[in-house]
Amino acid sequence: MIILSIETSCDETAIAVMRNGRETLSSELYSQADKHAIYGGVVPEIASRNHAATIGHLAELALKNAGIAKKDLDAIAVTAAPGLIGALLVGVSFAKGLAMALGIPLIPVHHIRGHIAANYIAYPELEPPFLCVIVSGGNSIIADVRGYTDIHIVGRSRDDAAGECFDKAARVLGLGYPGGPALDRLSAGGDDTLYALPSPAIDSAPYDMSFSGLKTAVVNIVHNAEQKGETIDTASLAASLAKTVSTILVPRVVLAAKEFSRSKIAIAGGVAANSRIRADFLEAAEKHNLTLFTPPLALCGDNAAMIGCQGFYEYRAGVCAGMNLDARATMNVSEAF
Ligand code: KG4
Repeated sequence: MIILSIETSCDETAIAVMRNGRETLSSELYSQADKHAIYGGVVPEIASRNHAATIGHLAELALKNAGIAKKDLDAIAVTAAPGLIGALLVGVSFAKGLAMALGIPLIPVHHIRGHIAANYIAYPELEPPFLCVIVSGGNSIIADVRGYTDIHIVGRSRDDAAGECFDKAARVLGLGYPGGPALDRLSAGGDDTLYALPSPAIDSAPYDMSFSGLKTAVVNIVHNAEQKGETIDTASLAASLAKTVSTILVPRVVLAAKEFSRSKIAIAGGVAANSRIRADFLEAAEKHNLTLFTPPLALCGDNAAMIGCQGFYEYRAGVCAGMNLDARATMNVSEAF
């Protein structure tokens, strides 16, 4: 089955052509990051306009690079939730047009389920059940993946996402947008014990997380230093931040794996590209005898290959949308379309 998949939930326009879920025939990505960098974050209106201007060319390119003609496509998969509503609507409308013109099924995909599916592309042998932590710019979720389309939320952030912490920290340090990769590089020479940062626990919800206090703590450290004319050791602050986020994520995932009797754990989403977090998960997996799946960096951030992969499993489970499909800014990952 050959699926053309579309991802436009935030500031990346992405189109892929996938065969039978896991084989990537082509995966094209146009990042708008430089268009948003001057504003220090994603501007929804600009994101929608850039998706609209780019999506047609990108689809032609994806088909050309896959060596596939439109008539050979079996279905169109598209991220329909969650995300920026205007940005999602560009992808959903384009997908509807293509599916209607070609007379083929339209498959709606949940963006976070797509992030989980990035692991299936990277690891052909991986099958549910497994425990997965999805950490991105907008979401931080620990999920028990019981089946390809049977996903149970074990824990989630009560406030900000982990990626939001990295992006805001980078912003106050003048490192630009998106901040995660720059902070990751900067942290290499830092002392992760120099700044004490909060990693709160939530009463009677051992798997839930909170990142807003951590974000505020970093911002306050920078502002206080500025007011006192003191210099910040930026490398050490970056290293302390990565260590703290890791300290919030890793023990929860290990504990959840034990409680749900899972021997496999996976990480997903843009923040899963962080070198400290990857290293700490590796160490914890070895210590607790868990098999760890870490997708390559290109599959951690937003891409369309993961949407095509999850779309394949959604279609196999009977998920198919009509021309009345609507985009949704919010949607629970365990909910079906
Ligand atoms: O998954 P993603 O590309 O988009 C969303 O669906 O949100 O994640 C983007 C987030 C941003 O917050 C970015 O700063 C963060 O992932 N990120 C990182 C790293 N690479 C990207 N955070 C920490 N370390 C990294 N190496």
